[in-house]
Parts: sequence; C-alpha cells; structure tokens
Amino acid sequence: MSKLILVANWKNYPNSLPEAKALLKELSKKKALFSKTTLFIAPPAPYMELVANSFAKLASQDLFPTEKGAHTGTVSVEMLKSFGTKVAILGHSERRALGESSRDVAVKVKTALKAGITPLVCVGELVKDAEGEHFEFLREEIKASLTGVSKKDVEKIMLAYEPVWAIGKSAKDVINPGELSQTTLFMRKVLSDLFGRSAAEKVSILYGGSVEPKNVSDLMTGGVRGMLVGHASLNAKSFVGIVEAIFENK
Ligand code: 13P
Repeated sequence: MSKLILVANWKNYPNSLPEAKALLKELSKKKALFSKTTLFIAPPAPYMELVANSFAKLASQDLFPTEKGAHTGTVSVEMLKSFGTKVAILGHSERRALGESSRDVAVKVKTALKAGITPLVCVGELVKDAEGEHFEFLREEIKASLTGVSKKDVEKIMLAYEPVWAIGKSAKDVINPGELSQTTLFMRKVLSDLFGRSAAEKVSILYGGSVEPKNVSDLMTGGVRGMLVGHASLNAKSFVGIVEAIFENK
C-alpha cells in the first residue's frame, strides 16, 4: 500500500514571509511523523522557494498553460519546474469561481503532464444534494476536465473530490464517510468508463473540504488515498493533529 498523500493548500496565506517561515519551522519539528505520508505543500508563489527548501515536496496552486512570454501576472511552467514543483492543483473551485472552465482545466492538465508535473484535478458539486443529482454533475466535470488525456497518462493524474459546500466549514459540517465512499466509488466508475478499469484503479482520489483532526480518521474510510487540506494546514497544531489522528488513533 502506497503512503497516504497529504496536500496542504495554503491558498492566499500566510500573510507574511516570517509567518510562512514560522509555520514551516513548527511543522518541521514533526518531520518524522510527516514522513509516514507523502507531504506536498502548495504555497502562494512568493513562498515557493521557502517550501522548495523545506522537508515537504512543492506543489503549485495552479499553472499557466502558455510558455514563457509577455503574460503579466502569471508564473510559467518552466519556473514551477525550476523550483522542483511535483504536483499542480488544477481546477480548484476557487479558481473555477473566477471563471475557469473545465475546458481550461483540461488544457492545464495536458500542460502539466507534458512538463512532468502531476496534475491534481479538483472536482465537486456546489451545493449539498440528497437526491444524487451531483453524480451526473461530477461525471460531466471529470469528463470535461480530462478531455484529451490518454489512457496511459490518466494513471499519472490525481483527482480530488472537493464538494464546494464542505469547503471552509468546520469538521461537523463535512460529508459523512458513507457518502464519501459512495462518491469515490462513483468517480472510479466514471474513470473506468472513460479510460478502462486498470487505468482507473491507478488514479489516486483525495478528499478535500474541512478536513480537521476531528474528522480525518472517519474520512479516511471513504475510499480515498489522501487529503487535500485548506485552513487546518495553516496552523501547525491542527495540521500535525491531522497526521497524529491518522497514525496514532487519537
Ligand atoms: P478547507 O480545508 O479550508 O475546507 O479547504 C479545502 C480546500 O479547498 C483545499 O483545497
């Protein structure tokens, strides 16, 4: 069994370089514990060098799919690679909310694959739905976000199920493990329909949306290979607490 995958999405935090340094310093005290996982940190661009030189692997929160050039406000794939970026979070709902379409995501996925960066493709319905309508939404979102990806390449992709309604809440508002299990099973079926069973089985599915020390052990039973953590990754105590909860049954 491969190691648990943990991705810290720092979003647009911490507020300053000293705070980012202090957070990494605190986390590094628990390096041995984190080494039980494959840990990626996706910081804002100004902290990339800091994370690149830390004990964690570097991830990006997005990528710009055009080669270097006159593109104000962007970071090229070459730059990401030069910092040693291993994973790119793509199609996060907070970027989709700014207008990014699944078609845009598909272009970014292929750019990442070409550059040897693992795409971590985020999908998830906007509102909680008890009628099962989100399954169709997810099928379309996965299909469109992976348009043009080959069977061979899909094995190199990770998918994150991040129901938008569960992001930025507290542990008690999150999805329950039964629902999560059903959804990850469904996502694997969609992958299998699109790319064949053997390729679909190799895709790691992660969960994101209010993962905290309190709920992570339950969520781990939902058929996922890891977690994409937002707010709880910005506080050393709670991020360490997540790993402790998984490995020490706290
Ligand atoms: P929260 O953990 O803050 O809900 O964020 C989840 C997320 O969006 C990770 O990408």
